[in-house]
Amino acid sequence: MKKFFILLIAITLLTPSVYAEITYSEHIAPILQRQCQSCHRQGEVAPFALTEYQDAKAWATEIAEYTNARLMPPWKPAEGYGHFKNERRLTEKEIQMITDWAEAGAPSGDLSKTPPNPTFNDGWILGKPDHIIEMPVEYEIEPEGEDEYRHFIIPTNFDTDMYVQAVDVQPGNRKTVHHVIVYLDVEGQARELDAKDPKPGYVTEGTGPGIDVVGTLGGWAPGLRPSVLPEGIGYLLPKGADIVLQVHYYRTGHTERDQSRVGLYFNKTAKTVPLKISQAINTEFVIPPGEEKYAVKASRHVKKDTYLLATMPHMHLLGRDMRMIAKTPTGNPIDLIWIQDWDFNWQDIYHYRKPIFLPAGTHISLVAHFDNSPANPANPHDPPIPVGWGDKTTDEMCIGFLYFVDAAEYKPVE
Ligand code: HEC
Repeated sequence: MKKFFILLIAITLLTPSVYAEITYSEHIAPILQRQCQSCHRQGEVAPFALTEYQDAKAWATEIAEYTNARLMPPWKPAEGYGHFKNERRLTEKEIQMITDWAEAGAPSGDLSKTPPNPTFNDGWILGKPDHIIEMPVEYEIEPEGEDEYRHFIIPTNFDTDMYVQAVDVQPGNRKTVHHVIVYLDVEGQARELDAKDPKPGYVTEGTGPGIDVVGTLGGWAPGLRPSVLPEGIGYLLPKGADIVLQVHYYRTGHTERDQSRVGLYFNKTAKTVPLKISQAINTEFVIPPGEEKYAVKASRHVKKDTYLLATMPHMHLLGRDMRMIAKTPTGNPIDLIWIQDWDFNWQDIYHYRKPIFLPAGTHISLVAHFDNSPANPANPHDPPIPVGWGDKTTDEMCIGFLYFVDAAEYKPVE
């Protein structure tokens, strides 16, 4: 009993001093700089900045609440199901520090010791690009209407095939640009569609580019940092290809202007292997109206020894979750990704920290669930109707994109 009291006193005495140690300048600012400011700064997607002590203090309670609930920073893949580059996730310790700091009244500490805020891609994060491509014109987005998926064609004039190791997209106007995807066209199909559309570029009815693309160079969404492919691997940019820049525009109630641009970083190594894309896909489903958790499955058989570099789950508005598992021929399961809380507005290509070796004969299986009930606030149909595969946002898709290279052509450096 005596021991217990001593312990109690020790805790009571210790606790305030532990709180007192956690300050903005020393502990909290570095976390906000690393994990929050990519979005919480002037002119970015988040509704308020977290760049100064005053901001952090004003929002301290909410910051503690949202980080505890794992709602901020937004990061979709569940922990323990794949290790990715550029993960936006706080450690338990960081969350505890934020909580303690908020509870202690958000002390500033010695503000003159606050580390300087990082600078963001007002310059290029990866340094000066080897080549910059830009939308041919400044595009004017009307104030009202449905979201617009407009595609701008930018010819490339390289006289050989090129390999691109990294792509950095700079949206011209973050208020209106929701996301950008960089597609490639070698057949002039995009030019034909452009010619038929009176405005610059062209629109499609759905969310896709409306042509048979030969590939993509990735894209941009708020908060995304450019991923650099491992040395020796590149996105193939075929000779003479047109870049088709898909820009998804929000309407803001005002006339907006945008001229987004893309920085390309070419591979410098003599021998480069092209990144390939395949998919586990199911196009043959119909989600009955009212169904809250309708399962859709897909799979993919790996024919040759492969290194998997990245994956991108893709569904539309009714998607709830998606999980992908690879099973090697010896029955060894490898978790590829699990998104438990799908949000159409937070999509990403998730690059693995280390390439994952998948031997020939590996079976990749995908299970996704869809919520077609009237209770789903994202359900675009009121009342719900049967929804199947289609290109429109209000149709559905069920794809797990797989970005890989042949193991016969590439060995990762350890
Ligand atoms: C990838 C972009 C992004 C990152 C990184 C990010 N946020 Fe946010 N945050 C948003 C957006 C967008 C919103 C508003 C919409 C929403 O609530 O989802 C938001 C909202 C919030 C809110 C809710 C404010 C309210 O409405 O009450 C808090 C609190 C918050 N963020 C804190 C943080 C903290 C703390 C971090 C870092 C640990 C962080 N965010 C990282 C994009 C981001």
